[in-house]
Amino acid sequence: MAYNLLKGKKGIIFGALDNKSIAWKVAEKAQEEGAVFTLSNTPTALRFGQIDELAEKCNAEIIPADATNVADLTNVFERSMEVLSGQVDFVLHSIGMSLNVRKKRVYNDLDYNFLNKTLDISSISFHKMLQVAHKLNAINEWGSVVALSYIAAQRTLYGYNDMADAKALLESIARSFGYIYGREHKIRVNTISQSPTYTTAGSGVKGMNALMDFTERMSPLGNADADECANYCIVMFSDLTKKVTMQNLFHDGGFSNMGMSLRAMKMYNRGLPDSDEIE
Ligand SMILES: NC(=O)c1ccc[n+]([C@@H]2O[C@H](COP(=O)([O-])OP(=O)(O)OC[C@H]3O[C@@H](n4cnc5c(N)ncnc54)[C@H](O)[C@@H]3O)[C@@H](O)[C@H]2O)c1
Repeated sequence: MAYNLLKGKKGIIFGALDNKSIAWKVAEKAQEEGAVFTLSNTPTALRFGQIDELAEKCNAEIIPADATNVADLTNVFERSMEVLSGQVDFVLHSIGMSLNVRKKRVYNDLDYNFLNKTLDISSISFHKMLQVAHKLNAINEWGSVVALSYIAAQRTLYGYNDMADAKALLESIARSFGYIYGREHKIRVNTISQSPTYTTAGSGVKGMNALMDFTERMSPLGNADADECANYCIVMFSDLTKKVTMQNLFHDGGFSNMGMSLRAMKMYNRGLPDSDEIE
C-alpha cells in the first residue's frame, strides 16, 4: 500500500545491483511513493547486474560511477540535477565491498591494500558523496541522506572482518557531516543498521546461514528483510522524520538490545555438553 510519502520528491539511489539488493527495493518503493530519481552503480555492476530492468520499470536514468571517484560522483550529482530539473531531496548510499572478505583473508591476517579499498568503497565514499553534494549545493533544504550499516560497528560478530571497521567509520561520517549539513542546510544524515539480509553482499559474510538463524532467534520481532528495510528508508526520506539526524537507527527486530532469548537458549541447550563438561 502506498501513502504518497515521497510525492514531488527527487532523489539518487546508489547500489542497486539485482532484485535482491536493498537499494533495488528502495527504488521500487520510492517510485510507488511518488518520487522520481536517478540510479547509480559501477560500470562493472551495470554490465553484470540487472539494473537496466529496474531503470526501465522506474523510468530512471542510470548514471555510472565508481563511488570512490570524486569526478564520477560529481557527474552523478550534476547529471541528476539536470535530469530531475533541480536539487534532489534524498540520497541513498547502499554500497559495501571487502576484498579481504572476498579473498578469505581473516581479520588477523589482513591485506592492507584490500583494507584501504574496503574503507574507500564502503565508508569514505559516503564522505565523498556528501562533500560533492555539499559543494554543488545539490540537496534541497530538509533533504535526507541515508547510508546502510550493520551492528558489527558496535559489537564483534564472527566473520564480519574488516567490514566492521568500515561500518564504524561510516556511522562516524554520518554524525560528523550530519552536524555540518544540518547546521548549514537543514539536511539530515543518518545510517540504518539493518539485520543480516540475503543479498549479493550479504552472502559474502562468513557463516551467513547460521548468523541469520541466530539473529532470527534472538530478535523478538525476527530479522528485518530487504523490503522492510526499504520501508524504513522511505520513512527517513519523507517529511515525517525532519528532525532525525546524526543517528544510527537500528532496524533489526530488536536484536541490538538483546542478550539472550528463550528461542536461542533452547537451541543452545540442545547442542550443550553435560554441565560437568563445561569449562
Ligand atoms: N545484506 C546484509 O546482510 C546487510 C546488512 C546490513 C547492512 N548491509 C549494507 O547494505 C548495503 C547494500 O548491500 P546489499 O546487501 O543490498 O548488497 P548488494 O550486493 O546488492 O549491494 C552492494 C552494492 O555496492 C555496490 N558497489 C560495490 N563497490 C562499489 C563502488 N566502488 N562504487 C559504487 N558502488 C559499489 C555494488 O555494485 C552493489 O550494488 C551495503 O552497505 C551493505 O553493507 C547489508
